[in-house]
Amino acid sequence: MSRRKKIYEGKAKILYKGPRPGTLVQYFKDDATAFNAQKKAVLNGKGVLNNRISEFIMLKLAGIGIPTHFIKRLNMREQLIKEVEIIPLEVICRNVAAGSICKMLGLEEGSALPRTLIEFCYKKDELGDPVVSEEHIFAFGWATPAEVSELVALSLRINDYLCGLFAGVGIRLIDFKLEFGRFVDENGNHIILLADEISPDSCRLWDIETGRKLDKDRFRRDLGDVTAAYSEVATRLGIIKTNPGSTPTLSIVPNETQ
Ligand code: TMP
Repeated sequence: MSRRKKIYEGKAKILYKGPRPGTLVQYFKDDATAFNAQKKAVLNGKGVLNNRISEFIMLKLAGIGIPTHFIKRLNMREQLIKEVEIIPLEVICRNVAAGSICKMLGLEEGSALPRTLIEFCYKKDELGDPVVSEEHIFAFGWATPAEVSELVALSLRINDYLCGLFAGVGIRLIDFKLEFGRFVDENGNHIILLADEISPDSCRLWDIETGRKLDKDRFRRDLGDVTAAYSEVATRLGIIKTNPGSTPTLSIVPNETQ
């Protein structure tokens, strides 16, 4: 890793300069944070699982025509991605009330929403990523109206697809967060790519039968068995192969890159 130039270090990932111009290497750490990094822990194996789960989902989304930054997985903790100009917005897509919307609007966790909701947050750690309206986005020039329409259309397509993907393995997709970036393709077209990651760090995933949480809320709320839950998601999606009667066989080596 030290061979490479570090471009950026976030709470759960590091970006290094890639082997070719226009590429980056995205490294998944085991670090977990919540409440804007007021709560921190190292969860052995989380980075390995998120690397694999995010790869799986990005490839599935590419298969239905969603343009993504993902190029290929390099090893246990790293993937090669296209370098994009990140749009400074987090796009939250909600199917069921949970988390901050319950606090904000006094809703009961698990209650149905009248329809799928899209929210935008301004990506600014110092401010705790506040929810913003389209008026704010346009006034401050974070994205254009055409870009926001594209973000909404892409997010709703991703939501439809992922609801089905997870329902197929007995998981309810409650909500999730997406990030997007601007990219100029080989023909000189300016396009928007899905960036960052999609993993149990960035989604709420509940078992359909029991409602058991299989996502980062286990860490946020001290429910325990965080990586076991992530591992269960990977197993159900078929990413980790299991032999009947045995435990999942993804060799998880903390702090190794290969
Ligand atoms: P929220 O209910 O806390 O606003 O979270 C909505 C969704 O976004 C949930 O699936 C978790 C995800 N999320 C992130 O990926 N990163 C974050 O920093 C936050 C606050 C939420």
